[in-house]
Amino acid sequence: MLELKKEQRHLIAMTLDGQQVRGLAEPRMLLSDFLSQELGRPEVHVGCEHGVCGTCTVLLDGRPARSCLTFAVQAAGRRVDTVRSLAHEDGKLSDLQNAFRKHHGLQCGYCTPGILLSAEAFLSQNATPSEQEVREMLSGHICRCTCYVGMVDAIHETAKKRASAAAP
Ligand code: FES
Ligand code: FES
Repeated sequence: MLELKKEQRHLIAMTLDGQQVRGLAEPRMLLSDFLSQELGRPEVHVGCEHGVCGTCTVLLDGRPARSCLTFAVQAAGRRVDTVRSLAHEDGKLSDLQNAFRKHHGLQCGYCTPGILLSAEAFLSQNATPSEQEVREMLSGHICRCTCYVGMVDAIHETAKKRASAAAP
């Protein structure tokens, strides 16, 4: 009987949450598996594993990406940010994270890392979004606890506070 040849593993180096990291990945290893299994990042969650729920979202060079649809080798040499990148260096939560807590934008928290990352990327492109625009952005994510109203309020409030802090 022919023995299947084991796929060769590649050394992948990337900047993860501001730190240089490396690990080994077979060519078809998903970025979600690479981050959680090879690099020990349990905050990278997976739900559907086929690009629908948004749970596995990370930022790839600052843009949201489904890590369940991205191969680890595609992230080689690039910047990857997980939810860990959002808190301040002293561990204090960001304004957006605090707003999610205040407005009950989460219950079990499983979907939350991906949603926070999408929301941050969204606010960096649209500093003063309408409620409808926030809802459209959230339509790319599934929350089984249905905390959407709280999320909309949290994102809106964060946008307003940032805009007034930036005003001359
Ligand atoms: S786990 Fe990646 S989109 Fe659902
Ligand atoms: S808070 Fe539970 S799935 Fe969204």
